[in-house]
Amino acid sequence: MVAKKSLILGISGSPRVSVTSKALDSALKAAESVPGITTMKIDLAGHDISNCKNCNVCINKNLDFCPVFKDDLKKEYYEMYKNCDGIILATPIYHMTATGLIQNFLSRMKPLSQYARQGKFGSRMGAGIAVGGMRNGGQDFCLTVLNNMLQSSGVNIIGGGVQFYNGAAVWSKNQKELNDENGILETQALGRKLAYMCKVVQSGIDTLGEDINDANFLGFHNDEDLKQGYLNRGLDY
Ligand SMILES: Cc1cc2nc3c(=O)[nH]c(=O)nc-3n(C[C@H](O)[C@H](O)[C@H](O)COP(=O)(O)O)c2cc1C
Repeated sequence: MVAKKSLILGISGSPRVSVTSKALDSALKAAESVPGITTMKIDLAGHDISNCKNCNVCINKNLDFCPVFKDDLKKEYYEMYKNCDGIILATPIYHMTATGLIQNFLSRMKPLSQYARQGKFGSRMGAGIAVGGMRNGGQDFCLTVLNNMLQSSGVNIIGGGVQFYNGAAVWSKNQKELNDENGILETQALGRKLAYMCKVVQSGIDTLGEDINDANFLGFHNDEDLKQGYLNRGLDY
């Protein structure tokens, strides 16, 4: 059997094309060096993206996109976000945390929350890259924020252990070039580890076939069991 290729999406949350975008490129290039991996990138530089206002028009109309805002969030981004097997969130550190831009982008993925609830993202692997102007400018905390963002939709977090504990921490030094040797090593190792883990998961899915499903990836026996979990918590399914 030929295993399905794994698709890794990288999202850069900087308002400008600079160090974060380059750090993400470094991770994606390393991921692509692993056979069977394809990557794609969304660079949010220059984008004006509004925060979700929780109006639920997307949910009520059963749409896979937000029909409310006419801003720079392209429809194709929803497709990319929905279909990836691995995901990297890369952000500059602003005031010790992720940018509003990447937060706004993620909040606007709400139309796809139905898929997260069904467990469609539960087999996805994810990782974070945080770029700060300071050596210790909040990278560690910011990576925790990125990891939490991913986990909130069921994504499994890749950390490195040993050399990079909870994601790639990058120091932008002159705020223009990607010239932090440790940071570069971390982005590369992170990209490769994410790629290998995507392959391992894909090969498991291919091998197990119908023995494993989306509900299992959220820790439930089947769809009915998953649905009951939501209902018991007073949530719609
Ligand atoms: C509003 C703002 C807040 C920032 N806050 C931090 C911070 O808390 N910690 C830090 O290390 N760098 C901080 N920086 C510096 C950026 O993280 C740094 O310039 C980084 O290279 C930006 O990423 P970019 O080059 O991809 O745009 C801040 C920059 C801006 C514009």
